[in-house]
Amino acid sequence: MELQHYPFLCLFVLVNFLCLNLLSVSAKNVPSTHISTPFNRTSFPSDFVFGASSSAYQYEGAVKEDGKGQSISDTFTHKYPGKILDKSTGDLANDFYHRYKEDVKLMEFIGLNGFRFSISWTRILPYGKLSKGVNKEGVAFYNNLINELISKGVQPFVTIYHWDLPQALQDEYGGFLSPRVVDDFRDFAEVCFKEFGDRVKHWVTMNEPYIFIVNGYDTGALAPGRCSSWMNNNCPAGNSATEPYIAAHFMLLCHAQTVKLYREKYKPHQKGQIGIVLVSHWFEPYSKSQADVKAAQRALDFMYGWFLEPLTYGDYPKIIRALVGKRLPKFTVEEATLVKGSYDFLGLNYYTSNYAANRPSVNTVNVSFSTDSQTNLTTERNGKFIGEPTGVSIFYVYPRGLKNLLVYTKQKYKNPTIYIMENGIGDANITTIKQGTNDPQRVDFYRRHFLAVKQAITEGVDVKGFLIWSFLDNFEWGSGYLQKFGIVYVDRTHGLKRYPKKSALWFKKFLR
Ligand SMILES: *[C@@H]1O[C@H](CO)[C@@H](O)[C@H](O)[C@H]1NC(C)=O
Ligand SMILES: *[C@@H]1O[C@H](CO)[C@@H](O)[C@H](O)[C@H]1NC(C)=O
Ligand SMILES: *[C@@H]1O[C@H](CO)[C@@H](O)[C@H](O)[C@H]1NC(C)=O
Ligand SMILES: *[C@@H]1O[C@H](CO)[C@@H](O)[C@H](O)[C@H]1NC(C)=O
Repeated sequence: MELQHYPFLCLFVLVNFLCLNLLSVSAKNVPSTHISTPFNRTSFPSDFVFGASSSAYQYEGAVKEDGKGQSISDTFTHKYPGKILDKSTGDLANDFYHRYKEDVKLMEFIGLNGFRFSISWTRILPYGKLSKGVNKEGVAFYNNLINELISKGVQPFVTIYHWDLPQALQDEYGGFLSPRVVDDFRDFAEVCFKEFGDRVKHWVTMNEPYIFIVNGYDTGALAPGRCSSWMNNNCPAGNSATEPYIAAHFMLLCHAQTVKLYREKYKPHQKGQIGIVLVSHWFEPYSKSQADVKAAQRALDFMYGWFLEPLTYGDYPKIIRALVGKRLPKFTVEEATLVKGSYDFLGLNYYTSNYAANRPSVNTVNVSFSTDSQTNLTTERNGKFIGEPTGVSIFYVYPRGLKNLLVYTKQKYKNPTIYIMENGIGDANITTIKQGTNDPQRVDFYRRHFLAVKQAITEGVDVKGFLIWSFLDNFEWGSGYLQKFGIVYVDRTHGLKRYPKKSALWFKKFLR
């Protein structure tokens, strides 16, 4: 960190004691465990994007302002406060809706050249459907945000759907459980292409359908909060054995129809790329036994192949078909053709890895998606964790898993262009700004994951960018505001002031 940058930062955050705090960081902001070979932006291809990710519900706030309609995440957090650790909502979140200019300036300061945000469907179409009207104020907000980003040298990566389906569509036909969602999804996407596609060159149809579906239709932990009654998880209705597969099926069709529309009608003149963001853990076999080796592959197929196999080859993994049988929907020949090859790039989110052991299912009574893979996923073997623990109990640090996942993707899925769209580490039990901004574990985490990506590139994987999760601490769904994934701390007790953490300064130095 060069000293001459500090006055700017101090003006920026307007808090003197923090400036002192940051100055003390400058002397020792490179953790001592690091290898001495220089490692920085120049270790990556010159057009490699280093950026950060966000989503509308987790950042924007202003949920009832300027004509925005209600989404399933709005209604869920209010109806089920007990399902959010601190009983919070995204009503205010980071108030990014009003503070985006300040935040984009901070991105520029750090040196990020990519930012992924999602478009709140109900800010654009308050009632979900195009026929019920476009909200001009919502369109204006995203126009302003995009223009602000571009003016500061930050490329917009835009997610069309990040878990905030219009409540009106959930009420009318059950949202993603109905094929009717496909036309409404495509109509919404088309408004986005029309309004923003002259400047947006990287489109993501949807973020992590896996996590959305598991929480929304298997366990009921997040919107729309459905699960089987035997789960005793306070769900109004649902079927954890069938609905996850149905929702996934229609989400894939939403994605594919949207890509077809973009490729036929917008891509030729707008010249952008369109893809999807999937999340996966890496899975190591719990033992060398053939049964556990197969279990690790099965775990990967149920988390990753469930989506990437149809997107690349036109059908679900054979093992899912074999284990799920009639509960798994089938693609018609036409649908298979539509879904196959429907991405220009793959967005990949990676957080952690698990050991996978074979666990043959004996239960034919309480059937659910979560037990269908017949695996026992653990983070510990013979009393040893798979990596260092983090503030998120289920996440351990395992950079090698990212490299393995990248190489596996290249080999199994036709060497796609990949952007890492999320990767990060959450802090828990933070009560002060000083604690919150002192995050050497995050610095070490990113350094090691950047190195893992560099190794994958050396082995021929076509990785074109790395967008971290996340820019700001934010509303982390079921964890509320208790888990902090940002490189910028947000002081929720004093007007949501932003404070760059040590990791932000390390990143700035890395990007210099
Ligand atoms: C960045 O790394 C390269 C080697 O890859 C090195 O030559 C250069 O000095 C480093 N730059 C900074 C600012 O550390
Ligand atoms: C199914 O779930 C119910 C409710 O949780 C439980 O009481 C019952 O024992 C379970 N049945 C089996 C066979 O696991
Ligand atoms: C899963 O594996 C762990 C670690 O080996 C073991 O303690 C646990 O009993 C297993 N659970 C099931 C349901 O097989
Ligand atoms: C956070 O605090 C809780 C309660 O004191 C504790 O159980 C947990 O281990 C702490 N987590 C971390 C990551 O320090």
